[in-house]
Amino acid sequence: MSAAIWAVLGYLLGSVPFGIVITRLLGLGDLRQIGSGNIGATNVLRTGHKGAALATLLLDSGKGAIAVLLARWLGGEAAAVLAGAGALLGHCFPVWLGFRGGKGVATFLGTLIALYWPLGLAACAIWLLSAAIFRISSLSALVSVGTSPLVALLMGKGMIAAAALFMAALIFWRHRENISRLAAGTEPKIGRKG
Ligand code: G3P
Repeated sequence: MSAAIWAVLGYLLGSVPFGIVITRLLGLGDLRQIGSGNIGATNVLRTGHKGAALATLLLDSGKGAIAVLLARWLGGEAAAVLAGAGALLGHCFPVWLGFRGGKGVATFLGTLIALYWPLGLAACAIWLLSAAIFRISSLSALVSVGTSPLVALLMGKGMIAAAALFMAALIFWRHRENISRLAAGTEPKIGRKG
């Protein structure tokens, strides 16, 4: 099968906007009008519904992991990497939301766990450690995502490191407003509305 098929498979799985689906089902309002307006778990937490935020985190990361595992099963390791990158693109640019999607952190972590679980766990541990120190979700994401290509290289996973570098560049670009707020010292702490 052509390589593009795996990226498309990942894209379709990744484009399901679980944050929007869950908040609508629970009647929590329009996520686009809450907090940062992002569709991810961090912003769902700003509704005050911790269960909804956890479900969004698990489903957004799970869709990345499932895309990778399905592609690996059917097409091998290169297919898995392409599907993971596709899932991230799907989350960030979902056709269902006019290509205005999320920032990709949970999907990235799920993808990494499925691609090479020690790397995924290391990225999660770095996120948690940064969050424990700074209490700012976007900063933890940038530290975790930004160090992942190097950690992958140190673990001897060249192809995954290359994919992680591409994904990290996309995630940093999606966080450009957060980066401006971090520089200005106005980025809210985890759970705060702003
Ligand atoms: O995972 C998303 C996070 O890094 C930033 O989310 O809503 O604070 O822009 P938010």
